[in-house]
Amino acid sequence: MVHVADDEMTHLFSCPLFRVSIPNFSKLNDLLTNEAREWRKSAAGVNISNKGDSWHSPDGLLSRKEAGFQEFSKLVPKYAALYLNRINPKLKLGDFGFEANAWVNINRRGGFNAVHTHGKFHISGCYYVKQPRVKNGQSGMIEFVNTRFDHHIHSTIGGEAFAAKFTIRPNEGDMIIFPSTLLHSVHPNETKEERISIAWNILFKKKTASASIIPKTAIFQAQKPTLKI
Ligand SMILES: [Fe+2]
Repeated sequence: MVHVADDEMTHLFSCPLFRVSIPNFSKLNDLLTNEAREWRKSAAGVNISNKGDSWHSPDGLLSRKEAGFQEFSKLVPKYAALYLNRINPKLKLGDFGFEANAWVNINRRGGFNAVHTHGKFHISGCYYVKQPRVKNGQSGMIEFVNTRFDHHIHSTIGGEAFAAKFTIRPNEGDMIIFPSTLLHSVHPNETKEERISIAWNILFKKKTASASIIPKTAIFQAQKPTLKI
């Protein structure tokens, strides 16, 4: 091993994937489980990346009145701000308006999500409300795909920076956050239990001096102080 007095490593063009366990999530997840199931009873789902026995709720979770959904809605800006601070500590969130959405996914046996991105948004997240326990296999795992062309380096050198894909099974109570452009999919639920998660997106819009660009529907207007780091 060579010892040097001064060195520097730049993780150029990295793809920051953030994972955090929400403190004291048990009671919140009980609420969210019940609210998600009730929502499913009253609303037809939408078809986007979900396949098989997979219910994707309509957007609008962030403006719903249920206690669990309201509590969850406060977590989104809090942890989004934490993620952004790790990426760019100099970012001034007060300079931006926001658009955000969130929805519930309920995957029963065989339900999965085909590979997709979260379109026009900047950052996205997923929170795990119910995650069936499995000892092996890929049931319910989320898989992220490297869209660069350097996969071959991984086969010789190794390391996640050059892996063709990265697969994890987050725990209940985990929030993961990633760039919205990152391709990902969810493996089929092979258990008899429901897998319930909540996904969300945020789009940042730079404020201008001439006019507010914050849409009236932007849910973060009322919660803006929580976005301060
Ligand atoms: Fe997704």
